[in-house]
Amino acid sequence: MLRALIIRTVLPLLLAAGTVAYFGLPYIDRMLTEWFRSDVELRSQLLMSSMQDPLPVLVARNDLAGLHRYAVKIAADQRLLGLLICRSGGLTLVRTERVPLAVNCETAQDIPDGHSRIFKTATGSAQVSVFDQSPSGLAPYRVAIVHDLSFVDRRQDTARDYLIAFAGIAVLILALFLALAGWLLLRRWANVLLRDISGRRFFGDAQSGRLSLPILTEVRQVLREMEESQRIEIDYRENWTPQALQQVVREQLHSPQIIVVSNREPYSHEFGEGGQIEVQVPASGMVTALEPVMRACSGTWIAHGSGTADRESVDGNDRVQVPPEDPSYALRRVWLSSAEEQGYYYGLANEGLWPLCHLAYVRPAFRGEDWAVYQKVNRKFADAVVRESSSADPVILIQDYHFALLPGLLRTRKPQATIALFWHIPWPNEETFGVCPWKQEMLSHLLMADILGFHTLHHCRNFLSTVDRFVECQIDHEHMTVALQGHVCHVLADPISIEWPPRWLAQLPAVEQSRHTVRQRFGIAEHVMLGLGVERWDFTKGLIERFLALELLLEQHPRLRGRITLLQIAAPSRSKLPAYQALQQTTLLEVERINARFALEGWKPIVLVVKQQNPQQVYELYRAADFCIVNSLHDGMNLVAKEFVAARDDQDGVLILSTFAGASRELVEALLINPFDVAETAGAIRRAIDMPREQRMQRMQLMRRTVKENNVYRWAGRMLMAAARIRQRQALLQTQEVPPLALRRERW
Ligand code: F6P
Repeated sequence: MLRALIIRTVLPLLLAAGTVAYFGLPYIDRMLTEWFRSDVELRSQLLMSSMQDPLPVLVARNDLAGLHRYAVKIAADQRLLGLLICRSGGLTLVRTERVPLAVNCETAQDIPDGHSRIFKTATGSAQVSVFDQSPSGLAPYRVAIVHDLSFVDRRQDTARDYLIAFAGIAVLILALFLALAGWLLLRRWANVLLRDISGRRFFGDAQSGRLSLPILTEVRQVLREMEESQRIEIDYRENWTPQALQQVVREQLHSPQIIVVSNREPYSHEFGEGGQIEVQVPASGMVTALEPVMRACSGTWIAHGSGTADRESVDGNDRVQVPPEDPSYALRRVWLSSAEEQGYYYGLANEGLWPLCHLAYVRPAFRGEDWAVYQKVNRKFADAVVRESSSADPVILIQDYHFALLPGLLRTRKPQATIALFWHIPWPNEETFGVCPWKQEMLSHLLMADILGFHTLHHCRNFLSTVDRFVECQIDHEHMTVALQGHVCHVLADPISIEWPPRWLAQLPAVEQSRHTVRQRFGIAEHVMLGLGVERWDFTKGLIERFLALELLLEQHPRLRGRITLLQIAAPSRSKLPAYQALQQTTLLEVERINARFALEGWKPIVLVVKQQNPQQVYELYRAADFCIVNSLHDGMNLVAKEFVAARDDQDGVLILSTFAGASRELVEALLINPFDVAETAGAIRRAIDMPREQRMQRMQLMRRTVKENNVYRWAGRMLMAAARIRQRQALLQTQEVPPLALRRERW
């Protein structure tokens, strides 16, 4: 840095000094010459006056020898080169010896009386001063006094040398001084900036006590901006945050209206026992995932108003602002009659499509009257979406199998909308889906979406082969697109997730405290290993298989009796349906039977809690457990597995996970099991109990990293970025008339 400063400061200064010297020195020379010349002229006049008396006498006598002697005597002065006495016409009367050859009476003829001229001679400059004399009665003559000016030349040279040297040294010192001062200043600025960079102090306004100059402020501002954009860029790639998601909505989608449609609402209002209205968060993985996304993006969420006090809580447009503690988006409720709820939700959705898509060996029921209601309710939601749309091209995010017809219904009414539907449950193979009597209608309506999302690539492939089998269309398997009636639908594998970090964690005590509280609450002794199951009470979750596995374990390892308890939270769900009622009965019977078989004084193997817990309570349970078991017989994703991992900031705890849950594709460090194999599940529980702490932590750390990086903001961000690309290409199509096929073939 110093070298650069010297080069940049010293060289220009030297150059400037050289230029000044080059043009300035001749002036100095001339000035010096002028000074000496007038001095010498004065001297000559004095000398001439001193010669006024003897000289005319000697001339009058024509005493040339006397004149010469007199002139030699006068010229003995060191500075005087000599004298010339001339007659008019350039005739020499006297010439002393040291008068230079170039100076003679002829050359001095032109010099007017009383003036002088400088001659360049072989030995240096000589000044010739001429005085005309006209004594009365005598012929006129002139006296030329020749002074040696070579000393002036020498002094000029010396003066020039000194001047150049002085100027050079001064410039050098000045330049070095400037360079040093500059270097010290830059070093100070650099140190301040380095401290800022390492202390990450660009954010906030706390500037007090810090060096504050305009240039530093500007540099800080640039660094702040760089830091911000870099942070968002990093967030895109590995650490998605609400801010990164907001940025996608703002910069890639240009802040469109966002409308989410789902059957289940994110908040329901229920009458409590005393008649007061309470807000509840339903037990739904879809809600767990979507809610933080809507907090970040704002917009409108349209859902079935199913809470007992929902109607009492909305405004004149059936809207309520949520979340209650910090409203950031609108919840628009759609009211369904109990006949509509029966046919659409309980009937076709949960007795038809739910068992159809989950390979849990519950036979799906397809009834024509349910199908009619399902269509009617889809139209009802389409009306609500159209009414809520304040623009021609909103981004509509439809959730789940309740709305298979909605993309098609909306496409005709909102042709410019960007429609994405995420199918939260598995998509079965084509033979399985083929039993649905209304498959063609459902598929052709689904394909009117711009984006169809599934949790896994396997589900995408199942969907494409189902479409291939039952719909007349063009499929591009490489790019996973389906073209139907000129519309292109993009099929996307995008595993859903949870927010990171989960907001509930901040309010919870340390793990040790949670272990203690939970054990006390459920009457479980401190020394007992705690296994945890948390789910909706659903036949896909494998509750019975889980109990049987525990039974087998206790049977095979009597030493574990009294030492392990499974705490099972079963949130009642779809209880009106026979399959769910049967499951509930079987569950109660099995729990009773197993507990009766092994119970000891103060201990039982299974603690069943038939009640939905709020999210904070669930996170406390996760933190209290030694292991969590997710042995779904079939599951789209299963967010309980991811929540358990997110809750364990102590890096401890073991996850047992079904290979038939989508989460097993990502959480490969869990103990993976086939939930239909009871012995294997029992073995996994045993491994979980015996696993050394170091191994537990290694597995948990890897799983935590996976969930952190693939959080729900990334899930939503990928879908919204895909939506943005589709919108940009559609705009391109309109302006440049690019054939749709060419766009369709592009990688996206
Ligand atoms: O898994 C499918 C799903 O719709 C989830 O999105 C949600 O977690 C669950 O079912 C909730 O079901 P319901 O709304 O019927 O209680």
